[in-house]
Amino acid sequence: MADKRSEMAHYYDERAGEYEQIYFRDDAARRKEIDDEVVRVRELAIDKKVLEIACGTGYWTQYLSETAKHVTAIDIAPQMIEEARKKTTICPVEFVQADLNHLPDTSEKYDLIALGFWFSHHPRQEYDLLFNSLKSHLAPAGKIWMIDNNPPAEGPTQDSSYLDENGNNFKKRFLSDGREFTIIKNYFSESELREIYGQQFKIERLTFGRHYWAVALMAM
Ligand SMILES: C[S@@+](CC[C@H](N)C(=O)[O-])C[C@H]1O[C@@H](n2cnc3c(N)ncnc32)[C@H](O)[C@@H]1O
Repeated sequence: MADKRSEMAHYYDERAGEYEQIYFRDDAARRKEIDDEVVRVRELAIDKKVLEIACGTGYWTQYLSETAKHVTAIDIAPQMIEEARKKTTICPVEFVQADLNHLPDTSEKYDLIALGFWFSHHPRQEYDLLFNSLKSHLAPAGKIWMIDNNPPAEGPTQDSSYLDENGNNFKKRFLSDGREFTIIKNYFSESELREIYGQQFKIERLTFGRHYWAVALMAM
């Protein structure tokens, strides 16, 4: 798993300059699902101290910052953080290069923890580790927000490679210069998401669209 983790981090570091194309493919229905979620995220973040995990190019950071009190945005890939720093942000935003599997300083608590397009990359056998880590960083009544893809949001070149012994789906990804990477990309039905999250969290909202799903969770 360590090799696959570093392949993913390397892939995203190399992809930083072209990553945001995913948000601007010419598909109005798909675009609308994202724009609707932007409205909900702004609302969720009002006056909140936010921890954003795997912030990437800062696509969600910019919207979180419009209503939040403060955003700490972490990502493992330096090139992603460099891209994210170019975004216009409103509230104070601190970008930190960090591994989500080893989050710094558990004494710091957040009202909202945001993970955009991360959960599909997280190994299934490590959900408990992730959830416990998120809970340890949540302030009382704090919330967790996530968004991720359903298969129709993927482009046509996203071939599946194999399933591992834990049921993780591995896919080939290609950069525009042709370089190939193999990374975890899991997909979920609505009922599977309810089962995964329902054991550990109160599901405040689950929006299951054609292209994307999103959740707002509270610790129980
Ligand atoms: C699919 S992108 C999502 C970016 C952004 N959240 C968004 O929604 O547009 C996944 C991000 O996870 C980051 N990442 C990969 N492994 C990580 C790790 N171990 N710790 C923190 N970030 C990681 C990548 O660098 C990449 O920016």
